[in-house]
Amino acid sequence: MAGGALVNSGSGKEYPGKLTLYVLVTCVVAATGGLIFGYDIGISGGVTSMDSFLEKFFPEVHRKQQANRSTNQYCQFDSQLLQTFTSSLYLAALVASFFASGVTRAFGRKWSMFGGGVTFLVGAALNGAAKDVAMLIIGRILLGIGVGFANQSVPVYLSEMAPARLRGMLNIGFQLMITIGILAANLINYGTNKIKGGWGWRVSLALAAVPAGIITVGSLFLPDTPNSLLERGFPDRAQRMLRRIRGTHDVGAEYADLVAASEESKLVENPWANILQRRYRPQIIMALLIPFFQQLTGINVIMFYAPVLFRTLGFGSNASLMSAVITGLVNVFATLVSIFTVDRLGRRKLFLEGGAQMIVCQIVVGTLIEIKFGTSGEGHFPKGYAAIVVLFICAYVAGFAWSWGPLGWLVPSEIFPLEIRSAGQSINVSVNMLFTFVIAQAFLTMLCHMKFGLFYFFGGWVFIMSLFVFFFLPETKNVPIEEMVLVWRKHWFWGRFIADNDVNGVEKPKSGEK
Ligand code: BGC
Repeated sequence: MAGGALVNSGSGKEYPGKLTLYVLVTCVVAATGGLIFGYDIGISGGVTSMDSFLEKFFPEVHRKQQANRSTNQYCQFDSQLLQTFTSSLYLAALVASFFASGVTRAFGRKWSMFGGGVTFLVGAALNGAAKDVAMLIIGRILLGIGVGFANQSVPVYLSEMAPARLRGMLNIGFQLMITIGILAANLINYGTNKIKGGWGWRVSLALAAVPAGIITVGSLFLPDTPNSLLERGFPDRAQRMLRRIRGTHDVGAEYADLVAASEESKLVENPWANILQRRYRPQIIMALLIPFFQQLTGINVIMFYAPVLFRTLGFGSNASLMSAVITGLVNVFATLVSIFTVDRLGRRKLFLEGGAQMIVCQIVVGTLIEIKFGTSGEGHFPKGYAAIVVLFICAYVAGFAWSWGPLGWLVPSEIFPLEIRSAGQSINVSVNMLFTFVIAQAFLTMLCHMKFGLFYFFGGWVFIMSLFVFFFLPETKNVPIEEMVLVWRKHWFWGRFIADNDVNGVEKPKSGEK
């Protein structure tokens, strides 16, 4: 099968040791970085659909929405300023993740998490107390800096702490925390929207301090990873830590590999220049395209704007938030599916099944909206009809949650050789944030101009990315990270970029196998 020239060696090294309670607890604490990211994703959509919030900060949008009930539904929320509120966070995160990579390297992962947590706390306080749009946006920028630091350091921390054979599962643990954060935000919005007196949005925004507090305090108790200790010149402490986290004294082999990897990466003075070499071409293309495609699924149209979208479709304010809670629940539970299947079914099957499911749902939702709202944007959903729309939106979210959601973070993190892994990972994070920003900034305007066609637009992109996966993404399940180069070497297309001496030190593919 094209693109499916698989390496499923499963014969990689297995170091002694088990999943200790110590590692489990530290990983759960570290993964709360995902909780914060998720809370931010989920909270803004609900807040921007609250009348009291719009009235106070975006009176023009509010007026338009009140006055235009019977006219074009597609455009009632179109406001650059409102979109800036949502999207400023991601631009800040994009810039901050580059600074974070320096802090993470020089001082250790935990200080990046701590710094991220503190910045978050300040951002949450500013947002909760906001008197004008400026205070709101400055608060969002501080939250964004926190996200940048957390997203840069947490995945690295998790991969370094986890035993190799559980790395995939723990990686998706980070995504699970993201979805729990989104759900918590949706539930909180549902509750605060009921507060009489018009200050419910303050509670929603200020409660970002809770996950921020967890990561700030939690990070102080986190141990450094052995890799980071070695990198910073503490070999004895690194070895002691490795014994502790693996729960055995028999860590010689793993420690030797860590030392070798750290020596090798010290030789690479400038990973940014290195990454441009021909032999890294396949990985760099994946690090650019996977996060780009993940955002072009259109998922954040639902995540950021579900309540606004549902209101646009004629649901009341309360019913809209309730629908967002439902999609949030589907998101969490469908992510669990990927946790339990990703190492058995493999990445490609999940990508392709999830993609097909999303395309069908996007076509159906676009068509259902077209039937009732046409191009004029005038119309109304009868109750039963609305329920069918929500059902297909949920099926779309489920498709994303067991494919492009977790795999968009997992696959880029497992394909890079060590010497350029951190540089590759920061490309992945920044491309993700850039397109999260672009979608957040453009969605309401796109809805206004493309109308129901917006759903076909994203459906078309999912079709393109599914073809890409089919032809160009090799299966990486069960392949030890240090043998990953063989996957590219054996691939019908990418093989041409990998020369024989690029696979030195790793078992060479048998002749005729390529
Ligand atoms: C994506 C986010 C998205 C979330 C939804 C993440 O993997 O990076 O942009 O909002 O999944 O669960």
